[in-house]
Amino acid sequence: RKVLRRLLDRNGYDCMTAADADEARKLLRDKPFAIVLTDMNMPGVSGLDLIMQITAEYPDIATVMITGLDDAKLADAALEMGAYGYIIKPFEPNEVLINVANALRRRSLEIENRNHRVRLEQMVKDRTSELWNAIAQLENAEKELRLSREETIQKLSIAAEFRDDETGRHIERMSRYCGLLAGTMDEDSERVEILRLASQMHDVGKIGIPDQILLKPGPLTPDERVVIERHCDIGYRILVGSKSNLLNVASTVALTHHEKFDGSGYPRGLAGEEIPIEGRIAAIADVFDALTSDRVYKRAMPLGKALDVLREGRGTHFDPDLLDLFLSSFDSVVAIKAQYADR
Ligand SMILES: [Fe+2]
Ligand SMILES: [Fe+2]
Repeated sequence: RKVLRRLLDRNGYDCMTAADADEARKLLRDKPFAIVLTDMNMPGVSGLDLIMQITAEYPDIATVMITGLDDAKLADAALEMGAYGYIIKPFEPNEVLINVANALRRRSLEIENRNHRVRLEQMVKDRTSELWNAIAQLENAEKELRLSREETIQKLSIAAEFRDDETGRHIERMSRYCGLLAGTMDEDSERVEILRLASQMHDVGKIGIPDQILLKPGPLTPDERVVIERHCDIGYRILVGSKSNLLNVASTVALTHHEKFDGSGYPRGLAGEEIPIEGRIAAIADVFDALTSDRVYKRAMPLGKALDVLREGRGTHFDPDLLDLFLSSFDSVVAIKAQYADR
């Protein structure tokens, strides 16, 4: 120990010595060290155990094992425990100095490496959280945009139907029935949502129909019927030709929601699958809500009776498969009806 200390002191190292592992650990607790040289054979805790403890507790301290035996196994064990090198007694002074210098060099490289890694990890963390913040902001903006889009559609649709659906509740229920029915057969929630929004505009064409015909109580004359039926084409012309998918779907719904499955509907007299699915869905939702809600000129029909009317129209007015789907989710239909009841 004394030889080593003298050698290292003479070469500019600032050294302390300890008689055994316990004393060494006391020193380590009190002061920062760069390197520990330890003999394999010590009273009490062995040099190997000391190296293991130092590696675990002080990862920034380099360790070098000194052993009297030229034992390859022991050297391996020391290196495995985390020792930076080992010196075999008896040693040449140069051998010790080279070993110590190498160990210190490796130590500073490893520290630098670790710091670099920590900096990188921190940078990745910072960048990631910046990214998340940006995404969150984007999502908020998108949410706001969606809300304002939905509200705009709703208000315009209500404006168009204001004369016979003052509260907009027909639009609300009818479009939710559409969404419900679309959702039973389409797993793409975005498409379902598009149809729900688009169907709110199914009657925008009523904006072009005069009051005395739109609000006429009782049966219409054939001429009046022709005028009322124009609301499909008017709505279509208002909505068509947009770059927006939503408005295109809306134009389809506006044009085809009064077509009937057997071809007896208007304005085109399309039949079966010639009628776009959006129109076939809207027909069921629209008729069901028209039957089961009060209007200025008529009272709501009881639910059971309305269901009879729907079933009577199965395959003639309505797409039979879609009608079955609608009836099979009738609990949800009733829930929507209750939630958006007229005020
Ligand atoms: Fe209509
Ligand atoms: Fe309607």
